[in-house]
Amino acid sequence: MARKKIALVGGGQIGGNLALYAAQRELGDVVIYDIPEKEGLVKGKALDIAEQLPVDGCDATLVGASSLDAIANADVVIVTAGIPRKPGMSREDLLRINLGIIEIVAHGVKSHAPRAFCIIITNPLDSMVYAFQKASGLPHNKVCGMAGVLDAARYRAFVAMELGISVKDVQALVLGGHGPSMVPISRLATAGGVPVTELIPADRLKAIEDRTREAGTEIVKLYGTGSAFFSPAMSAIAMAESYLKDQKRVLPCAAYCTGQYAIRDLYVGVPAVIGANGIERILEVKLTAEEAAALKKTVDAVQQSVNEVNMS
Ligand code: NAI
Ligand code: 2OP
Repeated sequence: MARKKIALVGGGQIGGNLALYAAQRELGDVVIYDIPEKEGLVKGKALDIAEQLPVDGCDATLVGASSLDAIANADVVIVTAGIPRKPGMSREDLLRINLGIIEIVAHGVKSHAPRAFCIIITNPLDSMVYAFQKASGLPHNKVCGMAGVLDAARYRAFVAMELGISVKDVQALVLGGHGPSMVPISRLATAGGVPVTELIPADRLKAIEDRTREAGTEIVKLYGTGSAFFSPAMSAIAMAESYLKDQKRVLPCAAYCTGQYAIRDLYVGVPAVIGANGIERILEVKLTAEEAAALKKTVDAVQQSVNEVNMS
């Protein structure tokens, strides 16, 4: 049986790490595609990682390319094409420029890899997923966005730091759009099955929620030249792996909602089952009135961003 093929559209900071993690996990062969000006960079990244794999003891073929033909028949496409934030910029500031790029990429993926499971990472995330699906016409279950895995991982990391426990035992759910209005559901977070609301005082938990909402901005300020790249890459790899291996993991991601959580015709962060059929199911949980009101606010923010896409 041939190996699976993972196409990375955008070979910058996140793209390079996606290639590394995909190869180290032996998810399949990897193509890193970027614009012609970046051909040397992506060929270099592909070769550099290929030369690391003997040390890792991992088998994967890596190719860097500036022709879209290279992504032909990919099983998974992960899109990071676009520009990242610089200090002082919001994710929404990226909309105009990244929308143009996403539309070009969407047409390219439709022509060259129409059966792929597509994971979008480019910001502003929720409206870029919407724009990608709209421009490509690919099935909703095969198009989704990565943000919730990262946002929940950040929350989990902060809880583990607070309690001085293993990150492995912290579970959490963050709902909504990938922006400052996202909704960490602390009521459902657990440490080894124990509700974190019983372990962490309310004011400290509130500080963790606030830090989670601004975690991307915290990294942007520290880096000074761009945004987070290690953690976003690994978060998308978890989603790709669940699809490729039909793991049916429950991962929060920007999935197309058709009424779940009272959200309709939008991609918003919700817990989804990812398996061989892509986004197979969205899991719903009854929210408190306060959580539902917070979710409505974040959905309104996503809708506003999507309105801009539709008006462009
Ligand atoms: P980067 O600037 O390092 O890489 C972006 C790459 O896209 C560049 O190499 C650029 O040449 C390429 N590109 C531009 N137009 C292209 C096209 N038409 N086709 C193919 N490639 C093209 O940026 P980085 O750090 O990798 O971030 C990528 C995106 O991911 C940004 O929009 C950033 O805001 C977003 N992001 C999203 C997160 C999330 O949770 N969803 C988390 C962190 C970043
Ligand atoms: C992040 O959350 C900037 O969306 C990016 O790190």
